[in-house]
Amino acid sequence: MHFDPWNPEFVAHPYGVYAGLRRERPVSFFEPTGQWLIARHADVNALLRDRRLGRSYLHLATHAEFGRPDDPEFQEPFWRVIRAGMLDVEPPVHTRLRRLVSKAFTPRMVEALRPKIAQIAGGLVDRFVERGGGDLIAEVAEPLPVTVIAEMLGVPEADRHLLRPWSADICGMYELNPSVEAQHTAVRAASEFSDYLIGLARARRADPGDDLISALAQVTDEGDTLTEEELVGTCVLLLNAGHEATVNVTGNGWWSLFRNPAELERLRADHGLLPTAIEELMRWDTPLQMFERWVLEDISVGGVDIPRGSEVALLFGSANRDPEVFDDPDRLDVGRADNPHISFGAGIHFCLGAPLARIELAESFGALLRRAPKMELAAEPEWGPGYIIRGLRSLEVGIS
Ligand code: HEM
Repeated sequence: MHFDPWNPEFVAHPYGVYAGLRRERPVSFFEPTGQWLIARHADVNALLRDRRLGRSYLHLATHAEFGRPDDPEFQEPFWRVIRAGMLDVEPPVHTRLRRLVSKAFTPRMVEALRPKIAQIAGGLVDRFVERGGGDLIAEVAEPLPVTVIAEMLGVPEADRHLLRPWSADICGMYELNPSVEAQHTAVRAASEFSDYLIGLARARRADPGDDLISALAQVTDEGDTLTEEELVGTCVLLLNAGHEATVNVTGNGWWSLFRNPAELERLRADHGLLPTAIEELMRWDTPLQMFERWVLEDISVGGVDIPRGSEVALLFGSANRDPEVFDDPDRLDVGRADNPHISFGAGIHFCLGAPLARIELAESFGALLRRAPKMELAAEPEWGPGYIIRGLRSLEVGIS
């Protein structure tokens, strides 16, 4: 098999292909997407931190100046929302947006949310156990992070069912070469989501509550504030980034444990291993397999010259199995001590929500270990269609 992100076989088993790339072609041009694939941990890590690359080039050049086609006109509502969030901009705009939002995501701030997160996770797991199991993804993995981020932002309970479909439709655009239909679906979702948030943000500006949207709508001590477009872009980003990957770490993580029963038993016997186990599950089956960067100035990677205007695809899933960095990398070791995995990224775009994600995962895995000590796989799961955002369609488990 070779690198083929549209082939379900590859999506299910990418790690052997990555090993070949790391050994033989660590920097290689992939014709179907016109990207340079970067397979080694050292290169992925270095490029994420290298300011000669960026998630966008639009702060420096137009599409035409960068030799790229203009965005199709119908996509305008999508990009207006997405490019107003910090993930798709570079400094100085990125620095300003991240500063305004990061106050709510310091480890101390999110630690204060732990009791609430534990309560939500406990409630979901209790109901799941009472029913004797079912689809762990639909019943526990999805509702937990969606509820947490919706509560943080102050999205009313009655509207929360709208969030997951909007987010999933928007994320369709992030896969490689999305179909025209997927593009239209993403644009429609971005418009609807944006209209919804504009209404909510206006209501909160007029009548602030004790929630993040109200806080983000205020002027800060330094006299700076988010524009309405930035506020909407930030909320869309937080709602999407705030749960897509967490859902997949939960689903992929439990499936990894079922496939490694000795490690599952080790964790069941010693819940103190939970912090290292969560990091290891994020490494061993990486939820976000690839992130892209634009090359803003000529660079050379592993002796290969990559000119300005190129796009690199950083293979996180491959970096996380690199034997140069991880002992016995294909082995799942829930006690792995030295684990510099790259699943939260690195550099200026390093995941803002990492402390929050770690608490959510600790609370949901912890509650399941305690309350469903004999949980077992009930059916062989299937991978969803996504490669970049890679997760199972469902994970059916039984609880005796
Ligand atoms: C296990 C779950 C998660 C994983 C694996 C994950 C992973 C990532 C990665 C890899 C990036 C950087 C992307 C890049 O460099 O191109 C990122 C950025 C980001 N993540 Fe997460 N994330 C997770 C959970 C969360 C949560 C719970 C939140 C917030 C509530 C969040 C908010 C963000 C934001 C706002 C950014 C953009 C940061 C910036 O551009 O400066 N993430 N995440």
